[in-house]
Amino acid sequence: MVRTGLIGLGTMGSALALNIAGKGFDLAVWNREAGRAEELQAEAGALGARLHPAATLADLVALIAPPRVILLMIPAGPPVDEMHAALAPLLGPGDVVIDGGNADFHDTIRRDRAGLPFQPVGMGVSGGRDGALNGPSLMVGGPVESWALLKPLLTAIAARAADGTPCAAHLGSDGAGHFVKAVHNGIEYADMQMIAECYGLMRDGLGMQAAEIGAVFADWNAGRLQSFLVEVTATVAGVMQDGVPLIDRIVDSAGQKGTGRWTVIEALHAGAPIPAIDAAVNARNVSARLDERAAGAALYGPAPRMLAPGDWTGDLEQALIAGKILAYAQGFAMLHEAGRENGWELDLAAIARVWRAGCIIRWTLLDPMAQALDQAPGRSLLLAPGFAALLAETVPALRRVVAAGALNGLAMPALGAALAWFDQMRTARGTANLIQAQRD
Ligand code: 6PG
Repeated sequence: MVRTGLIGLGTMGSALALNIAGKGFDLAVWNREAGRAEELQAEAGALGARLHPAATLADLVALIAPPRVILLMIPAGPPVDEMHAALAPLLGPGDVVIDGGNADFHDTIRRDRAGLPFQPVGMGVSGGRDGALNGPSLMVGGPVESWALLKPLLTAIAARAADGTPCAAHLGSDGAGHFVKAVHNGIEYADMQMIAECYGLMRDGLGMQAAEIGAVFADWNAGRLQSFLVEVTATVAGVMQDGVPLIDRIVDSAGQKGTGRWTVIEALHAGAPIPAIDAAVNARNVSARLDERAAGAALYGPAPRMLAPGDWTGDLEQALIAGKILAYAQGFAMLHEAGRENGWELDLAAIARVWRAGCIIRWTLLDPMAQALDQAPGRSLLLAPGFAALLAETVPALRRVVAAGALNGLAMPALGAALAWFDQMRTARGTANLIQAQRD
């Protein structure tokens, strides 16, 4: 019997449809562009028998037995409101419509309160196309009653952590799932920026070639830095095109779809500091100023280069471990504080567990983070004994790397911000007394 529908057969939607069908669920599928549903069915081979293309939204709804679960994989924003309006006359109170896009969680809260005839649920989906196909990480919001209906499907299609646990969880009411996904993306930005800063020191400070740098990342990926983003960095650094490393041909201007920026805006509203994430979002904004940077380079000339030759890769590895821990710690602290502002008592350990596999920021240290967050004083990763020991071990290298960056004109915005935050957080009497005096 068909209990599930999926609307939106773009890259993510098609991959999720195949994942759902592959787990033994029949599902009705509809796409705005006619013919796409049949095309997917044909591409799906044997799994095609589980896909039921619908010609119209009304047909889609008619194919599904209530209580229906309909998954929207369409662009975030107004298209979701338009789809809700189109589905409203067709659905009833027991039906659930999941928004699996990168929605602004404020929109998700608004939709939850809009009095729709069905229950809207916001769900963060991480892992890109591969994740959607083979097992994404799923961060689910909405009422507990909806979770009861969704759980069998979502836990079946989610990624599995090494211990076999599905990486899908209900994290709180209304917008909680999309909120957690936004913070996930903020951490993703910081993680990527810190990796890029290490790459910059190797490329510009040490004159290493892309392939050598790729080999260093591959080596790191075999240790404590084992993570999707370090792995992907090793892979892309090794790609050659017409005899030239591909990364040397890519313009150094990074775009963004907005989730990192939302995270920073939300953190500022909640007074929850996430300076490494903020630095990473701003670093992307600075990267886009190509003409101004070219003018700056012409005016100021090359930066001083005083990096002592030698094996920096050990220090860089330690620095990246420390920087990443600090960025994740900021993300978790924000989830705790800003979550409260929105009425959620987020279970940080459950979130760390959901991030262990499938998502972009998966990292071998998320498992110990989940354990640490369960017991840490104030639920702070910084105060968790295991991570305090790891930071004590790795922060000295972070200091050397950030200092080397400063002395050599190699910008280290995210690693530097992480270090400054760490130093502020370990200083019982800081300097705000002077600021208070000035204010007075
Ligand atoms: C994921 C990703 C994904 C997101 C981009 C972020 O978890 O699968 O976060 O949802 O769209 O990776 O994109 P930008 O770098 O384009 O902002």
